[in-house]
Amino acid sequence: MTKRIALIPGDGIGKEVIPQAVKVMQAAGAAVELTPFDWGADRYLADKVTVPPDGFTTLARDFDAILVGAFGDPRVPSNMHAKEILLGMRCQMDLYANVRPVRLLDASLCPLKGIEAKDLDFVVIRENTEGVYGDLGGVFKQGTPDEIAIQEDVNTRKGVERIIRYAFEYCASNRKLDGSPRRRVLMCDKSNAMTHAGGLWQRVFKEVAAEYPRIETQHMYVDALCMQMVRDPRGFDVIVTNNMFGDIITDLAAGLQGGLGMAASGNLSPGKTSMFEPVHGSAPPIAGKNIANPFGAILTAAMMLAHLGMSGEAQKIEAAVLEAVRQKKTTADIGGTLGTREAGEWVAQTTLRPR
Ligand code: NAD
Ligand code: IPM
Ligand code: MN
Repeated sequence: MTKRIALIPGDGIGKEVIPQAVKVMQAAGAAVELTPFDWGADRYLADKVTVPPDGFTTLARDFDAILVGAFGDPRVPSNMHAKEILLGMRCQMDLYANVRPVRLLDASLCPLKGIEAKDLDFVVIRENTEGVYGDLGGVFKQGTPDEIAIQEDVNTRKGVERIIRYAFEYCASNRKLDGSPRRRVLMCDKSNAMTHAGGLWQRVFKEVAAEYPRIETQHMYVDALCMQMVRDPRGFDVIVTNNMFGDIITDLAAGLQGGLGMAASGNLSPGKTSMFEPVHGSAPPIAGKNIANPFGAILTAAMMLAHLGMSGEAQKIEAAVLEAVRQKKTTADIGGTLGTREAGEWVAQTTLRPR
């Protein structure tokens, strides 16, 4: 059955990479009906609308999934449209699990010595609706030497429990690319300094872990985890963490995969309309130059198709991207000489070839 996809390219390079993802999905024969939305900085600057009334209700009601580019524009320094659209989708549509796979397509893409493609196949499960992202807090005595800014870190029992459970369920029901089972969930926090929030995460992690005796557990403070990720990331399997640490470590992990141009993600909530977006932002300095790497967006589209039950099409796309990387039919950030459109076109043509 044809799946209904809402397309929101957004700003900057989002507007360049999403058309490539669309072209590749169509070449792969995915049964999708695409409806574009113009939400982003241009629309906001033109009519002050970030999300039209009933926007999120429409997305949830009329679509099977949402494919997003990126939001962020120097003409909107407050970033308020991005907050309302992107964080709005995550929070108001309650897409509580941000699933960010970390895979190395080819050893040549990893800046670390001695890491082979098969060594890197882990996933970060990032809490997506709470933490410091709720914008709770305020400013007192603004503009005076006594100014106070408070940013609250919100951690609810329900929110922490559901994301930790999601990570264990993910571990139990997903295999690695080589077919071997996933074995371990690592919880990453900063409970040595943030004792209230960290204490809750620690207690809930132990409770939920007890329900999954076959899954190994591990804990790391986020600072130590960052160090380990650049020294030797081979042991990671499933990592669960809060909203902000998840944001930070997934840019670090993107670096292991060849940079932000290679990293895909999904914003999920079982049974709900999910949203898929590359990990990267709108990259204003390189926008409009046909140099942005479209592979993160293309791999994100593949992730979306797999989620919608089109695993065959998803695999075709992933295989074509892998071939492009191997043959250096890529943009310059990962060593090729092609433009955004040309790299997208090469992948699209390759998905059409019989294998
Ligand atoms: P960014 O991800 O846009 O860029 C960081 C660096 O990576 C830059 O050097 C950029 O050129 C490079 N880069 C990113 N994507 C690339 C690609 N596809 N190909 C080649 N190089 C790529 O992060 P930033 O510079 O911190 O933020 C820029 C804007 O994007 C800000 O407004 C920020 O808030 C926003 N942002 C949005 C999202 C999102 O919508 N999901 C995510 C991150 C940042
Ligand atoms: C991301 C981005 C967003 C986040 C920004 C744009 C608010 O960095 O999707 O990773 O912090 O979640
Ligand atoms: Mn980020």
